[in-house]
Amino acid sequence: MKLANVEIINNNRIGDRLYKLEFFSPYICKMASPGQFINIRCCGPGQIDPLLRRPFSIYDTDKKFNVATILYLVKGRGTANLSRLERGNMIDVCGPLGNPVQPTADKILLIAGGIGIAPIHFLAKHCIHSHKTVYLLAGFKDQNYMLVEKDIMRLSIDYSIYCEQNMWANRGVVTQGLHNLSRFQGYHIYCCGPVDMLKALQKKLAGAKNQVTALLEERMACGIGVCQGCVQKIKNGRDSYSYQKVCSQGPAFNLMEVLFE
Ligand SMILES: Cc1cc2nc3c(=O)[nH]c(=O)nc-3n(C[C@H](O)[C@H](O)[C@H](O)COP(=O)(O)OP(=O)(O)OC[C@H]3O[C@@H](n4cnc5c(N)ncnc54)[C@H](O)[C@@H]3O)c2cc1C
Ligand code: FES
Repeated sequence: MKLANVEIINNNRIGDRLYKLEFFSPYICKMASPGQFINIRCCGPGQIDPLLRRPFSIYDTDKKFNVATILYLVKGRGTANLSRLERGNMIDVCGPLGNPVQPTADKILLIAGGIGIAPIHFLAKHCIHSHKTVYLLAGFKDQNYMLVEKDIMRLSIDYSIYCEQNMWANRGVVTQGLHNLSRFQGYHIYCCGPVDMLKALQKKLAGAKNQVTALLEERMACGIGVCQGCVQKIKNGRDSYSYQKVCSQGPAFNLMEVLFE
């Protein structure tokens, strides 16, 4: 993990409040693995607000040109500041943080909801590189993520997209892609998305034999295991649980052991 001031190569709006930010960083490109994230200082030059860095998953790395990419949705002050930055501006990045996920199964089912596509896209590239069989299920509320489908297509894997509000893709929510679960027998499932999606997956996959790993995106403060600001209740054993830090002990957890409030 390293702190560095890096140059923005592009910061393009690709949908409503949806941006793709590329920055030059040989270090992140070399060191980042799927599941990891970076913490970005999102205040304007010379300002201190917001004080806390904001976490973002790594969406892609291009090792040839040393360009790393994040995909982000503008939610509040930090991401609004980020969206105003331009090519040539510098940003303060800390990372990579969190523990890498290292899939061992030969067959991988990736499930993404909304902006959860960011870490799933990076994981997909890694799995393809390791010659795994990969299927991607993605669910989006509306057509805001249509341009992301271009990146998914470039992966050259089998995929289905579910969209709640229009005819761009299969109509419905992403869990509908699991209607024939036996098709994914033997697949290790990795998922990332809103808590409601993760809860729905817990229900849908209860009793299934698949291993299911969720990448959690709990709100964070320090990002390095110091402040306890990101703790998540995790089941251990039949009747007990512990609080684990998503930043330093995650962000990957067995979905079936996550106890959502
Ligand atoms: C490990 C990790 C990886 C992430 N990866 C991405 C990514 O690739 N792309 C992306 O767009 N976002 C990602 N996020 C979420 C992102 O960090 C937040 O959207 C961002 O911090 C919001 O900052 P802000 O100052 O704009 O908004 P704030 O003013 O801090 O918050 C605005 C609103 O956003 C909501 N919010 C903020 N953080 C979260 C969160 N973690 N989970 C759910 N709701 C939240 C809250 O409801 C809050 O009211 C990730 C979060 C984590 C922990
Ligand atoms: S964000 Fe501080 S311990 Fe995780």
